[in-house]
Amino acid sequence: MIFWRVKSLDTILATAEKKSLNRTLGVWQLTLLGVGAIIGTGIFVLTAEAAQKAGPGMMFAFIIAGFVCAVAALCYSELSSMVPVSGSAYTYSYAVLGEFVAWIVGWALILEYSVAAGAVAVGWSGYFVGLLSNSLGIEIPFALANGPFAGGIINLPAVVICMLVVGLLVIGTKESATFNAALVVIKIIALTIFIALALPVSNMENFQPFLPLGSTGVVAAAASIFFAYVGFDAVSTAAEETKNPQRNVPLALIGSLGICTIFYLFISAGVIGSVGAQPVMDTAGKAFSPGSLALAEQCQTLASAGQHPVVCSREALAHVLRQIGWEKIGNLLGLAAFLALPSVILMMLFGQTRIFFVMARDGLLPEVLSRIHSRFKTPHVVTLVTGVGVTLAAAFLPVGKLADISNSGTLFAFMVVAITVMILRVRDKKRPRPFRTPAIWFVGPLAVIGCITLFLFLPTDAKLVFPIWAGIGLVFYFLYGYRKSHVALGICASAGGENIINPLRSLVDSDDKSSIPK
Ligand code: ALA
Repeated sequence: MIFWRVKSLDTILATAEKKSLNRTLGVWQLTLLGVGAIIGTGIFVLTAEAAQKAGPGMMFAFIIAGFVCAVAALCYSELSSMVPVSGSAYTYSYAVLGEFVAWIVGWALILEYSVAAGAVAVGWSGYFVGLLSNSLGIEIPFALANGPFAGGIINLPAVVICMLVVGLLVIGTKESATFNAALVVIKIIALTIFIALALPVSNMENFQPFLPLGSTGVVAAAASIFFAYVGFDAVSTAAEETKNPQRNVPLALIGSLGICTIFYLFISAGVIGSVGAQPVMDTAGKAFSPGSLALAEQCQTLASAGQHPVVCSREALAHVLRQIGWEKIGNLLGLAAFLALPSVILMMLFGQTRIFFVMARDGLLPEVLSRIHSRFKTPHVVTLVTGVGVTLAAAFLPVGKLADISNSGTLFAFMVVAITVMILRVRDKKRPRPFRTPAIWFVGPLAVIGCITLFLFLPTDAKLVFPIWAGIGLVFYFLYGYRKSHVALGICASAGGENIINPLRSLVDSDDKSSIPK
């Protein structure tokens, strides 16, 4: 019975022991890694979508989404400190809930990472187009910079950035440690400058009405803006490369999430206070759906009348700075997003390949996917396959829809992690827990309820994608993984797939090439 096909925690830990990767990441580097993976399109772009859904109440949305992530992160922390190995939620659920659930989680993580990479690419495209237009006067035709949902044909800049990042991953380019850390610092400086310029010009009247679309709008915005926090689990996937993971992983998870939440609250207050964040409504007083053609058309009508509400902007933060008279700084913030967002795409795509790897290593996916390029030492097959999917999604779908779809997979994975922690508390009481989730019988159920609630408040199409995706996954599982599973066949997991180049590690050890298995 597939639920009983469990890979024991001891086997998983023994496999991890054999790994040849050096433990190089300390708590600060890991926190930096987390902040680097978290801050991206969510805050730079989706702030506009959150405003369209909740108006000034989006501040509550940031708090709700941050809270759900925090309780999920506390659960993640316990598992990642107990099982500091690759594969994140997939690995944990394999050990506790069995192969069947693990498969669905792994399949959901594909949705999380790949679609998130597409969303960040589309977000990047908005900043790229705005930067070209505002600083160089170069206009990319609307039809070539927007997918069909926004009234265009194809989002060409998003396609190009996806192809570039996939190319980098295939040839295994490692950014230098300094370069990677610099990108995180650039993002933080850009956001700090935004806060410093936008908050002081706040007008309290802009906060009224605070909840133009009621509390429903706030929770719906929270379900979407949840995307802005996704990525903190990248920290747990780096557990195998972390010094003293038992202490450092939980600290870095919670630390990176805390830093980002504080930034997000100040930024949303800055947006609302400085230029206002009321949704664009139709004549019947109903808010247009974010990312819809109707909203795009209404925004064009407003623009020709000289009105440029933030909810219409594809580069929300740069737009706000330009509106309040900081034209050049707005362009510089655009430049910061232009430079830094590709590294988020890279991290998401890398996370994806790592999950694929662990699944292929367990025999649940075809071996060919874990094939490593002889010269580049990268998983070129899986990277290219993923790359094609991500590029197509980025070419045609709007950023908000992609983010919502990604959220549906992520929320499912987070929920399973919380359930796993609680089951382990009952089933395996004695196992050492270097980090114990505080008040687990309160925090765990809260994480589960939070994830389910946010899922239910996602737009219908995003909610439908997940079961359809899971259905496809199940067909695939029963046709392939069920029979080929290494656990079922009694084959001990090997450490195959570990000798790939991990771009995340370049945060700290670019000079330490000796640690990369040749
Ligand atoms: N949290 C990441 C972002 O906002 C995925 O881009």
